[in-house]
Amino acid sequence: MKILYVSSEITPFAKTGGLADVAQALPEALTKLGHDVRTVMPKYLRIAEQHLAMEPVAAFTVQMHNGLQGAGLLHAKNGSVSTYFIENEAYFNREGLYGQGDGDYPDNLDRFLFFCKAALECCKAMDFLPDVIHCNDWQTAVLPAILKSTYGAYRQDPFFQPLPKLVYTIHNISYQGRFPEDHWPILSLPRTYYSHDFEFYGQINLTKSAIHLSDAVTTVSETYAREIRTTDLGFGLQDVLQRQKEHLFGILNGVDYREWRPETDPHTYGIHYSADNLSGKSRIKTRLQREYGLPERGDAPLIGMVTRLVEQKGIDLITECAEQILELDTQMIVLGSGDPRYHNYFEWLRRSYPDRVGIYIGYNNELAHKIEAGADIFLMPSLFEPCGLNQIYSLRYGTLPVVRLTGGLADTIQDGVNGFTFFDFEPSFFLDAAKRAIDTYRSRPKMWEQMMATAMGQDYSWEKSAEKYLSVYNTVLGKTG
Ligand code: ADP
Ligand code: GLC
Repeated sequence: MKILYVSSEITPFAKTGGLADVAQALPEALTKLGHDVRTVMPKYLRIAEQHLAMEPVAAFTVQMHNGLQGAGLLHAKNGSVSTYFIENEAYFNREGLYGQGDGDYPDNLDRFLFFCKAALECCKAMDFLPDVIHCNDWQTAVLPAILKSTYGAYRQDPFFQPLPKLVYTIHNISYQGRFPEDHWPILSLPRTYYSHDFEFYGQINLTKSAIHLSDAVTTVSETYAREIRTTDLGFGLQDVLQRQKEHLFGILNGVDYREWRPETDPHTYGIHYSADNLSGKSRIKTRLQREYGLPERGDAPLIGMVTRLVEQKGIDLITECAEQILELDTQMIVLGSGDPRYHNYFEWLRRSYPDRVGIYIGYNNELAHKIEAGADIFLMPSLFEPCGLNQIYSLRYGTLPVVRLTGGLADTIQDGVNGFTFFDFEPSFFLDAAKRAIDTYRSRPKMWEQMMATAMGQDYSWEKSAEKYLSVYNTVLGKTG
């Protein structure tokens, strides 16, 4: 099968969150299963700075509402997957992927419309007619409309015959790509598309159009596939999704265990460990404590967090409870970036508890690995969590997660088996779960060891999930298996 996988971020080239990891690992897994998968993403400034061995493939123009814009197409291998980069200085040679500081770039609609159009043009440049085009999140959500209108319905482009099938994955429905109605001319689509597919409370909504116009919609866990059909977590699109529920599939993300395994992790001070020999884990903990100026105590539970510091991640529960958790003679290392009010909070927490708290505000992949490996307990009390990757990484590192039962967290963590859970988004419930973790770590070492062994033995490799995506692709292609 020929698959074009379109994503605005792909590990290791550009990453703001889990989408990038998925966009690297799923295509790799599908390739291993014998399929011809090509991935395409924008060439951002940071990628240019990586000085990758990229080979220029083609140059073409893309029709935008304000004239023809040039696009360069470059290629590099990512593992065994061919990755294509769309180049345009004006749109992508910027510091951020989607914005800078607090705000989104004001021309994001133009930028990602250009990206989607160029992704389709690049099929022609590669002479690659996909069976399936797989889009991800709002940045690629306009592609189905472009394919169906510009290349399908009214132009019948001879290259795109038969028209590829469209699969759209929702990684996070709280980001929908909404723009004011007066931006509509930018899309250069027939007005009927606005009223049928894009219009949402008087605005353009890219995600709504992708849900309408794709042949199948997937999301990244079974629980989230149910949750987004409810008023609580549908962010307004619950009715649209409910109407399409026959075409909505929940498929749990996997993990790329070449990247995330304590036996070979290149980022953990050169120290490794496994379920059979855990001694390295405590040595990594000591090194991490030293690096963050914390007392090198084996007996104090070290609590880790690696997260975007945004409301979704339940940071409000942390700000409510962190001091009480620290009063239990624990240590905490937090890596994250996002909302400045949370940055200020963690800076304050470190000043208040200098011998208990280490923080790193920013993005740091190496430290993410060190925390997964060196911490004893991992906190993820998300308000909502489509899948969540960090709790699954934590399992493999024997770092038991404390999670709120929502989305993929509910599908991967069982209380007292491989982690600690709570449901009500209330400080007292979160605190109770965190206390149970701390208490188990301190007072019930046998149970802790058993839980670590269970966690480390679990397998969330991509293969199973890739098979499920294939079955969705086969369904939309009208094949049975
Ligand atoms: P989300 O995509 O909602 O942010 P996930 O748990 O799916 O959440 O994925 C987050 C990914 O981003 C993980 O690979 C995690 O290690 C990484 N990550 C998040 N914040 C940082 C950070 N500040 N530094 C390094 N890696 C980070
Ligand atoms: C989103 C979600 C996260 C998920 C990731 C990859 O960023 O917030 O829960 O794991 O996408 O699918």
